[in-house]
Amino acid sequence: MEQLLRNSFMFLSKNKTLTRLAKKYGLRFGAGRFVAGDTIDLAKGVIQNLNHKGLDVTLDYLGEFIEDEQEARETADHCIKAIEAIGSSRLKSQISIKLTSMGLDISDEVVLTNMRRILTAAEKYDVFVTIDMEDHSRCEKTLEIFKTLKKDYKHVGTVVQAYLYRTVQDVEELSRYEANLRLVKGAYKESSDVAFPDKKDVDENFKKIIKMHLLNGHYTAVATHDDIMIDYTKELVDQHKIPKDQFEFQMLYGIRPEKQLDLVKEGYRMRVYVPFGTDWYGYFMRRMAERPANVAFVLKGIFKR
Ligand code: FDA
Repeated sequence: MEQLLRNSFMFLSKNKTLTRLAKKYGLRFGAGRFVAGDTIDLAKGVIQNLNHKGLDVTLDYLGEFIEDEQEARETADHCIKAIEAIGSSRLKSQISIKLTSMGLDISDEVVLTNMRRILTAAEKYDVFVTIDMEDHSRCEKTLEIFKTLKKDYKHVGTVVQAYLYRTVQDVEELSRYEANLRLVKGAYKESSDVAFPDKKDVDENFKKIIKMHLLNGHYTAVATHDDIMIDYTKELVDQHKIPKDQFEFQMLYGIRPEKQLDLVKEGYRMRVYVPFGTDWYGYFMRRMAERPANVAFVLKGIFKR
């Protein structure tokens, strides 16, 4: 039953008509628990609140799979406005970007032009930029674009996913770029040709890449809500005397907020991924797919209206 729900939410997450309707009618169905709001002003309020509690942020202007050059340029403009808002208010926030929202599916030229504009603005305001990782078909291209940009910009990092067979090799290769990496389990539905089908193997691989990247001496963001992975990281850094400024934990906005605060109290750097904007539908559906228990919460949201 749970698997059926997961598959249904993954399927719904890619529905273009529902995505359009969701944009038109605004945040619905309890999505406000996971999304900071439609506008940068609402997002700023959320960031201020989190910063006040000792939590750092990475802000995500929602949008993905854009196929129109003008729309990609406008999305980049929104990201630049978000960077200016963060920088001028001195908020403790970075920014996260999906390359398909910058024109990855259009051409290298479009995506690189948009990303260079963003990274130039981010450099001016001293805001770090993380390139999110999307589905497997875009992984190679995303890493290529990251490597190209990393030659010219220091304040850019990316993400690797423990569920992919290729990731151990990618972590090794990215070490040569001294990459600041966010390590995640992976959120997309992938075939067993490219990804471990068993959760147990994904977890083992996650531990493996956490250890590799930390011991390679590069900045590591362990992005997970899983206590086993968090405890594993804590033990590893203790054992190898890895300084607290070489790594951080990351979680999604609205998920395990008490645990986020516990980690801050224990003296760890903890960053919350805060999405905002009108294009909330695909992101929200992936969160539902990850944890069908959230459905109960959503149903309450629907019936309260
Ligand atoms: P998993 O889902 O395996 O859960 C393990 C355990 O964690 C559960 O058994 C439970 O104990 C606890 N837990 C999980 N969710 C919970 C909840 N809602 N409430 C209470 N307990 C819960 N993916 C991607 O493909 N590309 C990307 O760029 C990113 N970026 C990203 C940034 C950040 C900051 C995070 C935290 C995650 C991502 N992801 C991502 C998503 C990631 O790949 C993954 O899908 C989710 O983090 C879920 O996996 P977990 O590691 O949390 O564990």
